[in-house]
Amino acid sequence: MYVLGISCYYHDASAALLKDGVVVAAAEEERFTRKKHDISFPANAIKYCLESQNISIDKVKYVGFYEKPLLKFERVMSQHLEMFPLSFKTFLSSTPSWINEKLRVMKKIRKTLKYKGDVLFIEHHLAHAASSFLVSPFKKAAILTVDGVGEWTTTAYGIGEGKDIHLMKEIKFPHSLGLLYSTITAYLGFTVNNAEYKVMGLSPYGNMNKKTNPYYGKLKKIIDIKEDGSYKFDMSYFVYHYKDRMPSKKLCNLLGGPIRTAESELTQRHKDISAALQSVYEEALLKMLNHVYKETRCENVVIAGGCGLNSVANGKILSNTQFKNIWIQPASGDGGTSIGVVSYIYHTILGCKRNYQLKDAYLGPGFSTKEIKKFLDKNKIGYSKFKNDKDIIKTTAKLVHENHVVGWFQGGMEWGPRALGSRSILANPCNPKAQDLLNAKVKHREKFRPFAPVVCEDDALKYFECDEPTPEPTDFMLMVYQ
Ligand SMILES: [Fe+2]
Repeated sequence: MYVLGISCYYHDASAALLKDGVVVAAAEEERFTRKKHDISFPANAIKYCLESQNISIDKVKYVGFYEKPLLKFERVMSQHLEMFPLSFKTFLSSTPSWINEKLRVMKKIRKTLKYKGDVLFIEHHLAHAASSFLVSPFKKAAILTVDGVGEWTTTAYGIGEGKDIHLMKEIKFPHSLGLLYSTITAYLGFTVNNAEYKVMGLSPYGNMNKKTNPYYGKLKKIIDIKEDGSYKFDMSYFVYHYKDRMPSKKLCNLLGGPIRTAESELTQRHKDISAALQSVYEEALLKMLNHVYKETRCENVVIAGGCGLNSVANGKILSNTQFKNIWIQPASGDGGTSIGVVSYIYHTILGCKRNYQLKDAYLGPGFSTKEIKKFLDKNKIGYSKFKNDKDIIKTTAKLVHENHVVGWFQGGMEWGPRALGSRSILANPCNPKAQDLLNAKVKHREKFRPFAPVVCEDDALKYFECDEPTPEPTDFMLMVYQ
């Protein structure tokens, strides 16, 4: 039985295909359209999923969508009404996309795919929860989902057992840790729903000491974090609930200046603000997780939602909570929900047994040697052919050791935002100038953006202050350690 999952129209459109409980293909639309975080209907990703199995859409028994559009529309409309007349401009600009596109998902699926079967709509945070728990190694696990916003929910926790997921508590819009992160991302002059990871990467360059970083105290004025990790915002510091931008004038005054323009210099103040934000986020996350442990008494935890990509915070979870094991899927953000949708339909709704774990991220398109050769010949690109993998590896290792930068392309494309050795840029980690070298070679790359060193698993403790044994999400570049 095939089940197809779709996520689109907000950010990171994607498609995933499940065959008898096994995820056989999954990809984000951006990889085909070359538009970063493409939100459009993932026609190319769906085409890839079906072609990978050599099937047509008639073979698909169910199609699932990653949210309930009507419920989301209700939230958007009540937001406009509550803030009227301040919200009038955004009401006018956002309504057409709802009428023409977002509320017509069913029609779009039927028409574009020529699909006649059932379409199921799964609540957004359930899709997130399923995207992690149902493909995790755990039979039972505590679940935490944290993102910008789904229909109403922005944070939820609960427990997964066998095929079932039970979300126990939630925090609703407009209070949202994901939207706090996006608001400061916007304030620092970066693109929302895109560059949050850059803010995370910038934070270690700022003052991480809560006592001496003045912005930590300032941010704590706008978010009230309770001992159980639940939180509430002072909404006067935000305008995202009725405008198409995020920080209010009051927030700009609090942080001591206007929104940074993208071209302007990143100063120590900006770095300290990102450090303060990361500290506040980690504080809320760890308090929440400690509370979830108390409520569930389960030693396993899975995380999902866009905030699950905050690998710096993830690296602190096992050492600061009583959880013993952690799992996060490589596409923890909205892109990953298409896997959640198919798993939820197959296991939780249809009751089929779980016999699969997502062990690697290589679910996207791959190319045979023959196809690659054809491409290189057609485009008159020079190449050398190696007799075996050993020779390729030897040559590459030599090049890297000699401080060359190597583009490494092999097998299926990664699922999720991280390059995990299938489409990666390799450089010598023993070269202190490697970062400058890479920045010089890769255009438009900010100096502060980090690179991840790769070591053999057995050597992890030699180089990193990491959890032991190293948790599986380290394979997906989802845990950062000193
Ligand atoms: Fe989400």
